[in-house]
Amino acid sequence: MIDTSTIRIEQTTQSRINELDENNIPFGKLYSDHMFIADYKNGEWQDARIVPFQNISVSPANTTLHYAITIFEGLKAYRNADGEVVVFRPQANAARLNISAERMCIPEVPESLFMESLTELLKLDSSWVPSKPGTALYIRPFVFAMDEYIGIRPSENFRFMIITGPVGSYYTKPVKVKIETKFSRAFEGGTGFAKAGGNYAASLYPAQLAQKQGFDQLIWTDGKSHEYIEESGTMNVMFVIDDVLRTAPTSGTILKGITRDSVLTIARDWGLTVEEAPVAVAEVVNAAKEGRLKEAFGVGTAATIAPIASIGFEEELYDLPASDDNSFSKKILNELNGIRTGEIDDRYGWIYKI
Ligand code: COI
Repeated sequence: MIDTSTIRIEQTTQSRINELDENNIPFGKLYSDHMFIADYKNGEWQDARIVPFQNISVSPANTTLHYAITIFEGLKAYRNADGEVVVFRPQANAARLNISAERMCIPEVPESLFMESLTELLKLDSSWVPSKPGTALYIRPFVFAMDEYIGIRPSENFRFMIITGPVGSYYTKPVKVKIETKFSRAFEGGTGFAKAGGNYAASLYPAQLAQKQGFDQLIWTDGKSHEYIEESGTMNVMFVIDDVLRTAPTSGTILKGITRDSVLTIARDWGLTVEEAPVAVAEVVNAAKEGRLKEAFGVGTAATIAPIASIGFEEELYDLPASDDNSFSKKILNELNGIRTGEIDDRYGWIYKI
């Protein structure tokens, strides 16, 4: 078992912090000064270290390059109203990483290793956590196979890494989405519930086709009948139909979103009627036609709450009412932000202070 008290730290001599302009942070382009690495060899995690952010080298026969034996997580750190660095529900990400790991024949990352490495990395790079509303430090833990072998078999060597980078909004305006009824993101028995790199690779082509038609993203439907809504782009998706908050249940094909769980928990506490049950495309389309589809929005770590402006289905485009201060999506975003900044009581114990 790795001793997490012995993480080796090599500090950078050339900080790039002056590249951070809080007024202009694009998503996913700027990375903090340091990164965490641990290697899995001979059946155990070892050599935990924090080093300056830099390229890594792998063999051209690296199994991940060929067979996508890679999983990841996404979580965020915020600066609260007292200037402290806090992370939102990191233990939930540690647990989900290991659910993905099992499906992809990747060894478990002990929660203690996940939490200690995250904590030490954020202590070192705390100046990279922005404070402007709508900004955060995105944290990307990932694990991938390191075998030098182009045969197919579960790998024996792996690497666990964490990189971080300040981010602003993922979507800068409400999104236009298309209900996809030809391509599929996931199937029963497949890897849809895992945060596996290949799921995202396979989503690019259908999403690109939709983008050529003027859409920002897709709403995925089930792989068998295409009659039921699953996810939207990289997010879970929710609807307010009449006064009920509706979302698909997480099953083998849908990612168990941590933002999704947070939204549903708060909505239930607020006394809203929440229905976690299959959502038929026909119900959403009919509700839109009849003016009963009050809101639709994506929920995810990167995008937080992303209101949907219009939904395309077959040849029709259904516009949704613009969100305002009374919209559920707006209220829930304010609530989540309040919990993160400490302005609203952390009544669920979701905040982890660095
Ligand atoms: C996240 O919300 O953390 C994601 O995984 C989205 C990412 C693919 C940008």
